[in-house]
Amino acid sequence: MILRHQSFKTNLRSSKSWSFMDLYTYKKSSELLDRARKVLAGGVSSEFRKYNHPHALFYTHGKGSRVYDVDGNEYLDFTLSQGPLILGHSHPHVLQSVQQYSQTGQLFAGQHIREVELAEKINAIIPGAELMRFCLDGSEAVQTAFRIARAKTGKQKFLRFEGQYHGWLDNVCWGIAAKSTEALGSREEPNVFPWTEGLPAGSGNEFIVLPWNDLELLKQTIEKHHHELAAVITEPVMCNSGCIEPADGFLNGLRELCTKFGIALIFDEVITGFRLSLGGAQSYYNISPDLSVFAKAIASGYPLSVIAGKREWMKLIEDARVIHAGTMNSSNPTIAAALATIEVLEKENPYKRLFIYGNKLMEGLRQAAAEANQNLLVQGPGPMFNIGFTPLKRIKDYRDTFTCDKAKLGKFIGAMHDHGIRIIGRGLWYISAAHREEDIDLAIEKAKTVLKTI
Ligand SMILES: Cc1ncc(COP(=O)(O)O)c(C=O)c1O
Repeated sequence: MILRHQSFKTNLRSSKSWSFMDLYTYKKSSELLDRARKVLAGGVSSEFRKYNHPHALFYTHGKGSRVYDVDGNEYLDFTLSQGPLILGHSHPHVLQSVQQYSQTGQLFAGQHIREVELAEKINAIIPGAELMRFCLDGSEAVQTAFRIARAKTGKQKFLRFEGQYHGWLDNVCWGIAAKSTEALGSREEPNVFPWTEGLPAGSGNEFIVLPWNDLELLKQTIEKHHHELAAVITEPVMCNSGCIEPADGFLNGLRELCTKFGIALIFDEVITGFRLSLGGAQSYYNISPDLSVFAKAIASGYPLSVIAGKREWMKLIEDARVIHAGTMNSSNPTIAAALATIEVLEKENPYKRLFIYGNKLMEGLRQAAAEANQNLLVQGPGPMFNIGFTPLKRIKDYRDTFTCDKAKLGKFIGAMHDHGIRIIGRGLWYISAAHREEDIDLAIEKAKTVLKTI
């Protein structure tokens, strides 16, 4: 329990009595967690939720840039529920649309006009989305992309990059979190290691893994293995480790190699989609993938994902050579949420602001770290960015992230949390359209205090 800063208390906890406001406690969450553990495995519904500070917490509501837990703590939220809340919590237009469309039914096991409207909208704003299908989450959309790539190319393997995350299903559950750089093996032929027990023995042979951002190594590997490669999948910005932007020419080089050797280029835009720009990373970097996957921000927290691509690839689904299905796909509420989210994004066009605020926050954190004599590296495009305590001036791939002091990051994130600033545990920050300049200033102020104490 940490004594809270007086002005912050007044600012954020005005509904609480002064005696309670003096301390940040998690007592009610802790009690609920004990109760939950009896019936929910580990007390949570997703593994990552266990790793909150100081343990899994229970929330009551969220509004704009703030979220509130059962103990009455208010947080300035930079996790945005792991990314989806591009408009912040409880955006009225999204909630109203969901409510309104839900009055007409939930799910028809058939088509409805609004899903066509949504597909038309996505087709108009995302360059590579000539044809698409809706699914529920990023993980299954990624698997659909692999299936299409294999069917069209007649090849079996895919190439992926160290430190990138493409969901939790079997064939992408490898090479996610190594214990050390030594465990990763050589750059040319990295080791792969399972993230979980219970994986089918063969699933570790479905792919080749490489460090990201190394075009020469990529070229050599593709030249050697192109005969067995159906696809290369990449996060266009490596948001899941270090928030690393692509090196100059890397994505273009990757595009050229895939075209030359008849390999599908899959952009995993689960994070970058609707965040880096309305047209995603493919529009921002002007690169045209064959297939792309969107989830998270598209529907403001409702379960909707998209597998989209060029007609010649998606045609395999059209022709039923590749089966894609799902009882719950394109339900009324999810489609309504996505339409409403895109309407707001189009109307408000918050992207300039996301970059300005993100960059202001990044610069403020750098200055706060310099004042506190801390080696804090802050990097990313702005709408999302990452922090790590490392002597490096730049992190260029997953291997570089091993220079980061994880224990210190844990202390920083925990202390920020106790000061009411909520950040994703691995150091990732998301900016939403609901953040205001005073939120950015407040986060910098809190970081200044915290960085001097850790
Ligand atoms: C880049 C990326 N791809 C895929 C996924 C999996 O998406 P979901 O959690 O919706 O299954 C994630 C989730 O964080 C992700 O960050």
